[in-house]
Amino acid sequence: MTTLITGATEGIGRAFALALAAEGHTVTAVARTERHLQALMTELGPGGSDGEHDYLVADLATPDGVRTVADALTATPYDLLINNAGLARPGPFAVTPLDQALPALRLNCEAVVALAHAFLATAGHGAALVNVASTLAFAPQPGQAVYSATKAFVASFSEALWYEQRPRGVYVMALCPGPTATRPGLHTDIPAALVRAPDAVVAAALTALRRRRRPTVVPGRANALLAAATRYLPRTAILSLLADGPGPSVSQGPRG
Ligand SMILES: NC(=O)c1ccc[n+]([C@@H]2O[C@H](COP(=O)([O-])OP(=O)(O)OC[C@H]3O[C@@H](n4cnc5c(N)ncnc54)[C@H](OP(=O)(O)O)[C@@H]3O)[C@@H](O)[C@H]2O)c1
Repeated sequence: MTTLITGATEGIGRAFALALAAEGHTVTAVARTERHLQALMTELGPGGSDGEHDYLVADLATPDGVRTVADALTATPYDLLINNAGLARPGPFAVTPLDQALPALRLNCEAVVALAHAFLATAGHGAALVNVASTLAFAPQPGQAVYSATKAFVASFSEALWYEQRPRGVYVMALCPGPTATRPGLHTDIPAALVRAPDAVVAAALTALRRRRRPTVVPGRANALLAAATRYLPRTAILSLLADGPGPSVSQGPRG
């Protein structure tokens, strides 16, 4: 099995890389920081059933970076694509510089669409595409307006693809994690029942990948209940709740 994972050096992407390599997948890891990719290669070991693990250095918030990865996906059919890299720039929208908001749109939406398109062009029967959204896909958080909207886009896009691709035998999943403790100190102000470890998020995703039943996967019982509740609660109540609480935070950008 060959798998390409974006944002594979940290957090959820790294947990995917380690778990899938342990299952025998040959992993292609994508991120911007080469030394982190090299460290990941050492951790992953020699390779999987389809050859050596490898990596691509690419900034997926840029057209060049997207082209590099799309070309790789077109040149070699992959069994699994995990569109995981994502970015948030929290803060009230009107006073957040546009040059911080737009890269989040490019990385969270444009890159996901472009890489899904390249992947599906060559995907064979049995292939799978995982797009990482968030529980904020179901309810926008004030202070994360652009991020929440990008994740709603990813979830909606993935659900439609799930239906379109079923006759081809290609499975598409919108993975919607709640707050995930991707680094020490993150989400310590959120009720513990809602916070999952990256490994737990990935374990839930891999179970759903084996079953291939549902288009949308929300890891963790408490987060799944909250996601379902957003369909019945008044929108204004949800907005107040999310504005007052800390809510799921995400990558603030490069950290090293
Ligand atoms: N953490 C949460 O609480 C949470 C909750 C719900 C959903 N999510 C979603 O889960 C996904 C992973 O989040 P995470 O918190 O695990 O991320 P993270 O720990 O911040 O890791 C981000 C990864 O993406 C790479 N990356 C960042 N910007 C990139 C770019 N422009 N081009 C290519 N690679 C880039 C980073 O490497 P480089 O910096 O070297 O590029 C790193 O490998 C995201 O889509 C996020 O929105 C996270």
